Amino acid sequence: MLFKNLRVVTSKGTVDCDIQVDHGLITHIGKDIPGEGTDFSGSYTFPSIVDLHVHARDFNQRYKETVKTCTEAAVAGGVTTVVDMPNTDPPVITKEAFEMRKSLFERESVCDFALNFGVVDTMEEISQVTPLFVKVYLSETTGHILFRGDSRELLSLGKPIAVHSDLETTKEWCRLNKGILYVCHVASKPEIEFLRGQQVIREVTPHHLFLTRSDDVLSTVKPPLGREEDRKALWSNLGSIDVIGSDHAPHTLEEKMQGASGIAGIETMLPLLLHARHKELLTLEDIALRLCDIPCKLVNSLLGYRKGFFVGADADFTMIDPGKEWVIDASEFKSKAKHSPFDGWRVRGKVVRTFVKGESVFEADL
Ligand code: NCD
Ligand code: ZN
Repeated sequence: MLFKNLRVVTSKGTVDCDIQVDHGLITHIGKDIPGEGTDFSGSYTFPSIVDLHVHARDFNQRYKETVKTCTEAAVAGGVTTVVDMPNTDPPVITKEAFEMRKSLFERESVCDFALNFGVVDTMEEISQVTPLFVKVYLSETTGHILFRGDSRELLSLGKPIAVHSDLETTKEWCRLNKGILYVCHVASKPEIEFLRGQQVIREVTPHHLFLTRSDDVLSTVKPPLGREEDRKALWSNLGSIDVIGSDHAPHTLEEKMQGASGIAGIETMLPLLLHARHKELLTLEDIALRLCDIPCKLVNSLLGYRKGFFVGADADFTMIDPGKEWVIDASEFKSKAKHSPFDGWRVRGKVVRTFVKGESVFEADL
């Protein structure tokens, strides 16, 4: 399978090339590779977009979202690998639940995936599973899996940790941490300013970059949206943001009306960032660094995946049309949550085609 005339976006610039793919892997990257292929001139290609923060629900919450609908939404949004969060019902805090989750994804997922593992009190089962991160909930949110164990004991296991917390507790964990610490959804000015100098991986969500607090129930989320000065501080500290993750957290409309926290954002993340690029708030390279390069390095080094732009990597490609203007219509989402605070936004930049391991998994109606 030959992909012709690609303009591949990496954090270090764009590369014009052809790519040969065999058995789902990149086998050759070069100029004018001979042979019949599909022509992609006019679009840009992101290699392996990994969303490190996704709540695919399923299990007893299939009414909110299933692995199938979540990953269909992912590829429509250009995401080729999702990393699933453990605050499910039942939660992924035992080896048994982890294995169940893994086989569910193996059966149903239309994109690649990795799983996080939750911890409440006992740490016995952590060594028996292979998650990307052990996710530690230190403040209350959907799923009720608050950590009640001893932080020193957990950190001494040397496992990569993802935390969800308030600023004071995050400070404490930064002080204690000696390994890999991933700080989820950094949302405020004091937080990004504190974390700037810390040896941690800082994640920011699109909704905290694009929205401020309001009385729109569709934008109720944890952590809450900031004020304009918080939002601006995230943009002015873009250099300190390592990862942009969607925190795709679908709920039904009825639940949102009753105050449920979470935004189904996996389909709008890349379009919103492409729109921001059109507004010159960031570059395609900035997007590639935070959606591809850093997340790929994490899954490669921690789980032995082969994600990225190199011979031997999985052929995960997202083609985008940077100039296409369109209106976000939540009623057309693949996600079961057909509502969004971004509904009706006119944006520039659209996902046109997504491939996972060489297979076409999404094609936009243009
Ligand atoms: C998330 C959910 O609903 O699972 N909600 C949210 O507001 N972000 C949980 C979480 O990430 O805290
Ligand atoms: Zn989340």
